[in-house]
Amino acid sequence: MEKVVVLDSGGQYCHLIARKIRELGVYAEIRPVGTPARRLGGYRGAIISGGPASVFEPGSPQPDAGLFRLGAPVLGICYGHQLMAQHLEGRVDPGFTREFGHAVLRLRSRESIFAGLGGRQQVWMSHGDQVSELPPGFRVMGTTADCAIAAMGDQRRRLFGIQFHPEVTHTTHGVAILRNFLFGVCGCKGDWHPGDQAAQVAAAIRRKAGRRRVLFFLSGGVDSTVAYSLTVRALGEERVRGIFVDTGFMRQDEAKEIARAFSQLELGRLEVVDARRRFFDALRGVGEPEEKRRIIGRLFVEVQDHILASRRYRSRDWMLGQGTIYPDTIESGGTKHAARIKTHHNRVDRIRQMLAEKRVLEPLAQFYKDEVRRLGRAVGLPDEVVRRHPFPGPGLAIRCLCSERRLGPEVDPAIGETARQGGYEAFLLPLRSVGVQGDMRTYAKLTVLHGAAVRHDALAELTTAITNRFRQTNRVACALWPRRIDPAEWRIRRAGLTRPRIRLLQRVDQIVTRFLHEQFLYDLIWQCPVVLLPFSRDGGETVALRPISSVDGMTAEVVHIPPAQLAELARELAEVEGVDAVLFDISNKPPSTIEWE
Ligand code: XMP
Repeated sequence: MEKVVVLDSGGQYCHLIARKIRELGVYAEIRPVGTPARRLGGYRGAIISGGPASVFEPGSPQPDAGLFRLGAPVLGICYGHQLMAQHLEGRVDPGFTREFGHAVLRLRSRESIFAGLGGRQQVWMSHGDQVSELPPGFRVMGTTADCAIAAMGDQRRRLFGIQFHPEVTHTTHGVAILRNFLFGVCGCKGDWHPGDQAAQVAAAIRRKAGRRRVLFFLSGGVDSTVAYSLTVRALGEERVRGIFVDTGFMRQDEAKEIARAFSQLELGRLEVVDARRRFFDALRGVGEPEEKRRIIGRLFVEVQDHILASRRYRSRDWMLGQGTIYPDTIESGGTKHAARIKTHHNRVDRIRQMLAEKRVLEPLAQFYKDEVRRLGRAVGLPDEVVRRHPFPGPGLAIRCLCSERRLGPEVDPAIGETARQGGYEAFLLPLRSVGVQGDMRTYAKLTVLHGAAVRHDALAELTTAITNRFRQTNRVACALWPRRIDPAEWRIRRAGLTRPRIRLLQRVDQIVTRFLHEQFLYDLIWQCPVVLLPFSRDGGETVALRPISSVDGMTAEVVHIPPAQLAELARELAEVEGVDAVLFDISNKPPSTIEWE
C-alpha cells in the first residue's frame, strides 16, 4: 500500500492534513517531526505540518536534515515551510506583526502543486515569522500582499514550501493543492479504501488474540460498537463479551436498544451493569462542571477496575478490547475533553499494566472516525448504528445545568441596546456555561434574546457582536417558546443532578432525536445536545437546543434549522409537563463549547 507521512510539528493541524490525504485515497500516517530519516524510507512523500513554535525558539521542533536528501518529495506547510527554508540555507525573518486570516495568493507558477489552478487564490494564513530569502535551487511560486515568499519550490528535488494552510476549508482550493502533491508530484495512484480493510483488521485481531478471549466495555457509541463487532466477527461470539455500565446519564432506553441491536445482529449478549445509584449518590449537590467530570471519571474507573479485577477477567486468558481510534493514539490530537476522558478510561493504571502485558486489543487504532463508519458498514452494521451522533462519555450529566442559589435574570443596558438594534430584547442569565476563546476556557453567563421570531441572519450577527463586545457572556440563545420572557417573573432556582431532572432530560432528548429523524434533519447535523436549565416561571425547567455542524468537534457552527420547523419542535417540547421554556442556542464554537456542562 502507498503511504505518505505527515511530520507533526505540534498544534492541531496534523490530523486535519492526514485525514484530508486519506479522504483523497492515500494512506497517511503521523510521526513526530524529528523522526530519523532512516525510518522514513518507505514513504512516497512527506508533509511537514504547521505548528505553534517559532524556528527561532531554542528547542523548537526540528526535522532530521537527512529528510531532504531522501529523494522523496517533501511539502512544508507554514512552520514546515520555514523549517525547510532554514534547513536548506534560505533565510527566515522573525515576524513583528502576525498575518492571520484570509489572503489572496498570486501565483507565479501554475505547475506541479499548483497545476490547474487560477492565478489568484484565496488562502488562509496564520503566522508571524516568514521566509525572506529562498534556499539555493528554489523559485518563488506565489506571493501575497504581506508575504513575498508565500510559496516556493525546487522542481528538480521535488521540495515545496507554502506559508498558508491548504488543509483548512478557508483555503478555497487547498484540497486541489494536496491532490496535486500526492498524485502529480509523489506519483500516488490512490489505493486506500478503508471499507476494504475489514478482512485485514479481522486477521490482525486473530493474530493478536491468539487463543485468548476479549472483554469490551461498550458505550453505544460508534467506535466501541464497530471494534466489538469486528472482534466478534473475527473470533466468534463465544470468545467475546460486551459489558455496558449504566451510569444513569445515558439516553432514554440506551442499554435496552443496544442489547436489542446486538441480538438482532447476532453479536452476542450484552451484559448490563447497573451503577446508577452509585453515580447519583456521588453527584448529589455537585454542580461545578469540572467537579462533575472528575467524579464521573473516577467512578467509571472504579466500576471498570472492579470488573477487571474479578477472578474471571484477571486471568491471562482474557484481553481487554477498546474502541480507541487514531486521534486518541497521538498526543496532539483529539478534542481536549475526549483526550481527557480517554486518559481516565483508556489509560488508567490497570489498563497501562494490561498494555505492558500485551493484553489490550485496539483494532481501530489506525483509523479516523469516518473510516470507522465505513468499516462498520462493511461488516454489516446498520445505518442507524454507524450514523449515530457522537455522545460524550459523561453523558447527560454535562447537559444538565445546576445552581446552588436562587438567582434572577440581570438586565444589562448595553447588551439590551445591541440586541434592540437587531430587533430583539435581551437579558443576562447568571447561569454559567463553558466556552473557549483563544486557547482559554471561559465560564460565563448566558445572554437570552427574546421578543421576536427567529431570523437566522440577524441572530448570527448579534451573537458575534455580543460575545465579542461583552466579556461577561460567552453564549447566546434565542427564545423559541414563549417568544417573550418577562425577566421580572422568571427565576433560576436551586437545582442539582437529580433523577427526576435526568428523566425529564431523557424524555425531551428522545423527542428531539425522533423529530430530527422524522424531519430528515438528523444527517444534516453533527450533534444536537439538548440541555436542561433550572430557569422557570412556575418551578419547571427550560430546554435549550444546540444543533451544530462540525468535522471533529474542535470547532462548530450552529445549524440554521428553518424557523417553521424550529417552532414546531418547540411547540411539541412545550407540551411536556415540567417544561416552561424552549431556547435555541445560536452560538458557534468558539466562543462557546459544544457542551454546556
Ligand atoms: P466541547 O464541549 O469541548 O465538545 O465543544 C467537543 C466534542 O467532544 C465531546 N465531548 C466528549 N466526548 N468524553 C467524550 O468522549 C467527554 O468527556 C466529552 N466531553 C465533550 C462533545 O460531545 C463534542 O462532540
